[in-house]
Amino acid sequence: MSCILQTISDDKALLAATICFGVIGALFTAAKTYSFVRMLLDMLVIPGISLSKFGAGKGSWAVITGATDGIGKEFAYQLAKKKFNILLVSRTESKLQALAGELEQSNGIQTKTYAMDFTQGNQSDYSNLGKLIDSIEVGILVNNVGTNHDIPTPFAEESDETIANIVEVNINGTLKTTKLVLPQMKARRSGLILNLGSFSGLVATPYLSVYSAGKAFLSTWSQALGMELARDGIVVEHINTYFVVSAMSKIRRPTFLIPTTKPYVASVLSKIGLSGGSSTPYGSTPYFSHALINWLIDNLFTTTFWVKQNNAIQTDIRKRALRKREREAKQQ
Ligand SMILES: NC(=O)c1ccc[n+]([C@@H]2O[C@H](COP(=O)([O-])OP(=O)(O)OC[C@H]3O[C@@H](n4cnc5c(N)ncnc54)[C@H](OP(=O)(O)O)[C@@H]3O)[C@@H](O)[C@H]2O)c1
Ligand SMILES: *[C@@H]1O[C@H](CO)[C@@H](O)[C@H](O)[C@H]1NC(C)=O
Ligand SMILES: *[C@@H]1O[C@H](CO)[C@@H](O)[C@H](O)[C@H]1NC(C)=O
Repeated sequence: MSCILQTISDDKALLAATICFGVIGALFTAAKTYSFVRMLLDMLVIPGISLSKFGAGKGSWAVITGATDGIGKEFAYQLAKKKFNILLVSRTESKLQALAGELEQSNGIQTKTYAMDFTQGNQSDYSNLGKLIDSIEVGILVNNVGTNHDIPTPFAEESDETIANIVEVNINGTLKTTKLVLPQMKARRSGLILNLGSFSGLVATPYLSVYSAGKAFLSTWSQALGMELARDGIVVEHINTYFVVSAMSKIRRPTFLIPTTKPYVASVLSKIGLSGGSSTPYGSTPYFSHALINWLIDNLFTTTFWVKQNNAIQTDIRKRALRKREREAKQQ
């Protein structure tokens, strides 16, 4: 304001304006530079919170939902290697048994499994899971289970079943499972809750509208929960994920921007408590190339620009998916 009021003479006004804009420009550049350098320090220099804080090797358990494939399975491998006992939860009993056996054999840890389909929203499943959880000391909960639109689909054409499944698994399942671990974590004043988020929650994603909004829900909820639980000694973290090679992403070949699950999960576990490329409280974008994209999204162009990018990407994926469906229909 003071710069605008200093209009004593034209000359002085010009000088004042130049200094004013210079200062604003310098502050702006300094803020951007600071956030970029802080991101690089998180990624390359500062170590995350050690997993030993959550009881690694001391009989503590990690509970992982959606644990038998993709990112969840990799969390199981890496947390077992760090000597956590593992409670695996997903639909398929045979896959659960096979993975549990493999983890016990190669790491000398204990495992438990519970087979449930989160789309069912079955209250007795949650109470059975609750009883299992009450029988162990849970150091870490990985809220990983998630389901997506089959292919990018306009909301108006999406089936009621798919919409309900996404809400039931991605939102209700995460809230209900978290409720099960909180009493003991609060009593012990220790615990780590990781919520698997997505860039589609960071930037609205047309044609994946329900998935995208569900991940935005998880991001906002994680921020509120993280603040509430900090005083109880519990660490909450929303993990911002761009693409990772998996059955869900339907991507098979890794690139600089799209890692396999192994380096992806390693980046998450080595950067607990650090933001990386994320600018939301209790949010983390730990994988290097994902952090760069996250930083660009937060600092360059408008939100509308990025939504349009997502629109273009999903329109293209939808076209290719529809062509593939056509080909497959012809072959039958
Ligand atoms: N891959 C990516 O590019 C990406 C990007 C951003 C965020 N994410 C998030 O990361 C998480 C894991 O994704 P992913 O790519 O690893 O998925 P994925 O490879 O498809 O694995 C999904 C896992 O969840 C289980 N599962 C699926 N539906 C279930 C249900 N209704 N009830 C119980 N278990 C179920 C599956 O086992 P069963 O079939 O035996 O049940 C499997 O173990 C999700 O929350 C996803 O939104 C992924
Ligand atoms: C709910 O889950 C319980 C325990 O697994 C099972 O016995 C019951 O049949 C399920 N109910 C429905 C409606 O699927
Ligand atoms: C999710 O939870 C809400 C609130 O408990 C419930 O009303 C709803 O039926 C659940 N499932 C879906 C698909 O919305």
